[in-house]
Amino acid sequence: MNEIIATISRKGGSGKTTTALCIADQLRRRGSSVLLIDLDAKRNASKAINADLSRANVTNLLDGAKLEEVVQHTSNGDIVPGSIYLNAADAILTNNHELKKALQRGGDQYDYIIIDCPDTPGRLTANALTAATSALITVKAEPFSFDGIDDLAATIAQAKETNSSLKIRGIVVTAYDGRSREAKNQLAAFRDKAAEIGTEVIEPPIRATSKVYEAQGRRVNLSDYAPKSTAAQDYKTIVDKLLEQ
Ligand SMILES: Nc1ncnc2c1ncn2[C@@H]1O[C@H](COP(=O)(O)OP(=O)(O)O)[C@@H](O)[C@H]1O
Ligand SMILES: [Mg+2]
Repeated sequence: MNEIIATISRKGGSGKTTTALCIADQLRRRGSSVLLIDLDAKRNASKAINADLSRANVTNLLDGAKLEEVVQHTSNGDIVPGSIYLNAADAILTNNHELKKALQRGGDQYDYIIIDCPDTPGRLTANALTAATSALITVKAEPFSFDGIDDLAATIAQAKETNSSLKIRGIVVTAYDGRSREAKNQLAAFRDKAAEIGTEVIEPPIRATSKVYEAQGRRVNLSDYAPKSTAAQDYKTIVDKLLEQ
């Protein structure tokens, strides 16, 4: 069986999309076949991977298209692009099982499917967590980012009622400034919080570097744009850890 990983968080700007892009890329570099699914109306993952936004997208998949009809094979990897109509998810999706069913129409050809979720848990995230085998929580080490973790744990617990094998892979701390004492304190607090909800911070925290948004703006993978950058190295280590888990 393949592994389906959803990147989730309680708010925007916490590194979900960056983590989804970098993990997909790192897994691909290790020889796995990987598909990224952009489940966010902002379509940042689709833009960063240089998808053609005028072609078929994830809403067509949810409407019954086969995976092969909506996948784009870009030089940065395979993606099912997002759609602005995902903003009306409650109108498109009537239950939490639709993405899971859609992925059964061809998803088993991939070793990994990474689902980039929207910022607020709702119908789309519930669909992602029903289709997923595991979830990765992303948080930025900044004031108040702590608040959402209990809510996310509750969202995951709810998804487990129908998807009992769903696992939390861990918490990825993003855009980390190791020179800041405040960020260090936050990291320590995240480790405690992770243990409290039965998981762990996957180390190391991903260091903050402008290379991340430069690569996204240029629509290339971080590891191609700046392979020696701190964040590229940190994501590489995180994927080593994920594969060891
Ligand atoms: N390690 C990092 N260093 C610097 N900037 C980062 C890092 N990770 C993410 N960012 C930037 O922070 C912003 C939000 O990240 P993103 O992955 O889009 O979060 P989300 O998907 O949760 O909204 C983006 O502009 C992204 O380029
Ligand atoms: Mg995002």
